Amino acid sequence: MLARRLLQPLTVSRFSRTTVGVVAARNFSRHDYAQHGKPLKWSQDWITEEAEKIMTKVYATHKALGDRSTNPAIQPTLEELEKMGDPLHYKPLNLGDHIAERLVGFLRPLTHLMFKDKYNHHALVLETVAALPGMIGGAFRHMRSLRTMRRDFAWIHNLWEEAENERMHLLIWMQVTQPTRLERAMVLVAQLGYGFLYTVMYMFTPRIAHRFVGYLEEEAVAAYTHYLKCIDSGALPNGPAPTIAKKYYELDDNATIRDVVLHVRGDECMHRTMNHKLAELAGAGLYDSPPHYPPDFSEQELQAVSEPEKKKKDSPPLPENK
Ligand SMILES: [Fe+2]
Ligand SMILES: [Fe+2]
Repeated sequence: MLARRLLQPLTVSRFSRTTVGVVAARNFSRHDYAQHGKPLKWSQDWITEEAEKIMTKVYATHKALGDRSTNPAIQPTLEELEKMGDPLHYKPLNLGDHIAERLVGFLRPLTHLMFKDKYNHHALVLETVAALPGMIGGAFRHMRSLRTMRRDFAWIHNLWEEAENERMHLLIWMQVTQPTRLERAMVLVAQLGYGFLYTVMYMFTPRIAHRFVGYLEEEAVAAYTHYLKCIDSGALPNGPAPTIAKKYYELDDNATIRDVVLHVRGDECMHRTMNHKLAELAGAGLYDSPPHYPPDFSEQELQAVSEPEKKKKDSPPLPENK
């Protein structure tokens, strides 16, 4: 019994069994998945197809960073990234989801109280914390794969890429502003406290852990949308993009901070959606299934996202009414 327990992945939660059943029955079943091997559909209609297509392009951009064989043409335009600010929300389905949502709701006013209108500092400090869950979750999956001597099915890669991406966000904001001594101390405390709590959470219930990160990332998308509004209203300066951001996102020489925020927000959309997807998989006990995310859109389908914009620009001006 003990040996079985030890060989069982820690990522199988004892506490989520009942709710797992509810989610799985409502949405998809392990049997269907194994039979047809189809990508899992979302359990609820919470994200638009257009958002998924643009996010697929964001993924393609990141893949192209380290993989020269990827088509660099599939990249989101700034116009497409503008559309990523919709406040998409995954509706909680069960007790675990509600707990995750409430936890984020509890943290929200605290961060607003701490940083108020210091958006640069807000972004900088939060990125130091945001890089932890991916690294911790990936470490659990890594050890699980070693312990059970089985494949991981791309969870580790996705989670560690998320951590790497968040660390790049931190380095980008470090070229825009510098943390105060108090903020550096806060980072240290947060790394110890949050790191420990997230480790415990992931050990017992990876489903809630991923859902929690999904909701945190929803907040990150909202925070960067607010950042953009502040730039547009003139409350924050729109200076030149940091050099590191230009290299990372392959931006033009005349790119601005606003362009960088659009790209960073696109990344947060990626993290939000991936974590909600992993929470769904974990909820159905599908720990040995690839996320199958982003969806498998064809190149034409992806190119078509920005076509209406192009058509608008290319079409001749309407004749003036006389
Ligand atoms: Fe980030
Ligand atoms: Fe993020």
